[in-house]
Amino acid sequence: MFVQAVPSRDVRQLGINPNHWYVVACSSEINTQPVGVTLWKQDIVLYRDSEGQIHALEDRCPHRQVKLSHGKVINNTIECAYHGWRLNENGNCVEVPYLAENQKLPNCKIRRYPVIEQDGFIWLFPGDVATLQPQPMGLPEWGHLNYIATVSVIHCKAHYSYLIENLMDMYHGHLHEDYQAWAEAELRDINENENRVDAHYTAQSYYKIDKIWSISQLLFKKLRRLHPEPLDVSYIYPHWASTLGQDFKIYCLLCPISETETKAYLVHFTSLNAFWRLHKLPIWFRRFIKDSLFGAAQKLLDGLVEQDVKMIEEEQLAYLQNPERKNYELNRALVSVQRLMQSQLGNG
Ligand code: FES
Ligand SMILES: [Fe+2]
Repeated sequence: MFVQAVPSRDVRQLGINPNHWYVVACSSEINTQPVGVTLWKQDIVLYRDSEGQIHALEDRCPHRQVKLSHGKVINNTIECAYHGWRLNENGNCVEVPYLAENQKLPNCKIRRYPVIEQDGFIWLFPGDVATLQPQPMGLPEWGHLNYIATVSVIHCKAHYSYLIENLMDMYHGHLHEDYQAWAEAELRDINENENRVDAHYTAQSYYKIDKIWSISQLLFKKLRRLHPEPLDVSYIYPHWASTLGQDFKIYCLLCPISETETKAYLVHFTSLNAFWRLHKLPIWFRRFIKDSLFGAAQKLLDGLVEQDVKMIEEEQLAYLQNPERKNYELNRALVSVQRLMQSQLGNG
């Protein structure tokens, strides 16, 4: 074991590399009315047109700079709440309700962002469109009949690096002892390149999903039995993914807001892969099971998030009170994680 003093100052003030797809909302959050979100200090308004297609524009009316998200979606345009100017999905002003006959429509335009709705989430590309990545990371399990999803929203007053480090440091099972998520983690190996860090741990899992009723282990403690499983966690910039044995897959989809605020979606999948009998049933029935069990791990996931957020926010506060103080880190995965964050910003 070695002791590494982490130079926290630089990491806690890092921006984001905008040339990636970020997750700004759940699909279910965007209905017929505009919704305002913030991705790294940029206010963005999201809305659906009559075909259900999602659009993302700068959340700023070109007339007097108020937020468009206070307005309404009318005939596939977004109508500002203040004087009723309307903007189309390209960010062009297409109507002013009180335009006089001798006046022309103002030639103003606001920024439009590439946006994709995929696997239950809205993915947005805030970077340079010349470097547009063709596909977001995606969650292949979202639509797959063999996986049951649970989503928990993380909203913390802390820099995103604290959240990623929390998710990559499996030695913090200690914090969650009462929820029995995993135990006895031990780091075995790390692989890293310019886009990701994969940390391989061994651990003990409390859950074994090998019979249909085993899903009730998510609810009842006394059905759980500790057994060894590989625990792999990956920082796939800017998001996070992990697997615990064959039965669980968890993602964390990031929407960093500022140096001291982060939103993220934690998505937990319980696998039904072991139930080969279930796979022979009609598709509609399998979909019914998947949909009825949506959120089965909600209590567990929300409980874990609450405990983690408390620690993460306290770390941020301590940093703000005394940015010179160093951490003493024993987990070398965190050194790799910080290296990746730095190199994505060109500081590598
Ligand atoms: S500020 Fe938006 S219409 Fe006037
Ligand atoms: Fe945790």
